[in-house]
Amino acid sequence: MMTRRDFLGTVSWSAFAIPAFAQWDFTQSKVQDIKFPEKNDPAYWSKLRKLFPMPEDQAFFNTGTLGAQPTVVMESTIEHIRKVATDIAEWDYKDDWISGYKPYRVIRGKLAELINATTDEIALTENATAGMNYISNGLELEPGDLVLGTDQEHTGGRSGWLVKQKRKKIVYRPIPVPKPAKDPQQVVDIFKRAMGKKVKVIAIPHIVGGNGTIIPIKAICAEAKKRGIFTVIDGAQALGQIAVDVKDLDCDAYYSSRHKWLLAPPGNGMLYVRQERMQDIWTTMASGNWDNHEDDGYRLTQRGTGNLALLIGLNTALDFHQQIGPERIYKRIKFLGDTLREGLKTIKKAQIFTPTHPEMSAGITSYSIKGLMEGRLVDELWRRKKIRIRGVRQSTHIYNSPQEIEDTLKIVRDLASE
Ligand SMILES: Cc1ncc(COP(=O)(O)O)c(C=O)c1O
Repeated sequence: MMTRRDFLGTVSWSAFAIPAFAQWDFTQSKVQDIKFPEKNDPAYWSKLRKLFPMPEDQAFFNTGTLGAQPTVVMESTIEHIRKVATDIAEWDYKDDWISGYKPYRVIRGKLAELINATTDEIALTENATAGMNYISNGLELEPGDLVLGTDQEHTGGRSGWLVKQKRKKIVYRPIPVPKPAKDPQQVVDIFKRAMGKKVKVIAIPHIVGGNGTIIPIKAICAEAKKRGIFTVIDGAQALGQIAVDVKDLDCDAYYSSRHKWLLAPPGNGMLYVRQERMQDIWTTMASGNWDNHEDDGYRLTQRGTGNLALLIGLNTALDFHQQIGPERIYKRIKFLGDTLREGLKTIKKAQIFTPTHPEMSAGITSYSIKGLMEGRLVDELWRRKKIRIRGVRQSTHIYNSPQEIEDTLKIVRDLASE
């Protein structure tokens, strides 16, 4: 629930440290002006597709890298960029035209609501990589302390620990996870075996970027908690793709991008830190609020001038997400992913690297065709039907359709029978 303090944002603690302009009103967005299809309309999803500016003859399946922005998100972002460039002389410093200084409690509150956290526990970052670095850099560890990852980390999930290993002599250990994993328990057992006395941190993805494996985070965090191990989860691929409830997962920290599955403009991320562990995290980027423990999320958010247009776009994307309904989105993503995997299973030469266990996969499917030259599948999908995947990874989102999946499978079948 938004309070007056959230709206004004000028908390007394920092009133002298920051410029006095009033904060942008994030309680509103242009989503309120859009006509969404009726929820029970049989043509709901095809009508929704029209709310995206992508040409209708193109099928975009690379949300794992960057989500496609709805038109309303793009326009609200551009509108502010244009305003700053054109009307800058009119800026009397009474309103908020830049980001980087204010606490942005309303927008942090919307993110908090989405993942079942409190506003104080949420920091805004540029991307997932920044969230990871705030933890790896900000957490005090001793030489010899062990940090466990997986052998399938994105470079953004791993590199902060490699810096710490070189600088502070901690030990970073990537644990091999089968590709594909058989079931959740198999992965839990692998991590349980690795949780020795020296392990101080587990830093693993919620969804593996490469092949879309949903890691059984809740069970791993429960085991880690028994042993006093700090858990930090890379949710770059999870937020907006599947339901995320940080209290249920019971992790200590969780970070994500918002420009992938949440469909915000690029350059948007977030970091959650459990309130009780906030005092363990030094900030990495210090500005006036560097020691503000009344609002720790603000402490980790404030980092100097940024582009407010990106937050305006994010706010619009969050309202867009809520307007459709998170559960409806996750169900659709999973349905399309399952449809693709089911179809691939019927093609003998198709090799699927994503787990087919129902709890371990959603919108990301990695696969290849035995014997086909690398890159050929990508080229043929684009050449024949303007279907855009990345490498061996195909990500399904609400702007994709069963027909696009059928088109994909037809081309895969053709190539497999060559
Ligand atoms: C699992 C995972 N972690 C981290 C990242 C890095 O995200 P960003 O570029 O937003 O920092 C990615 C990007 O693809 C990813 O897939």
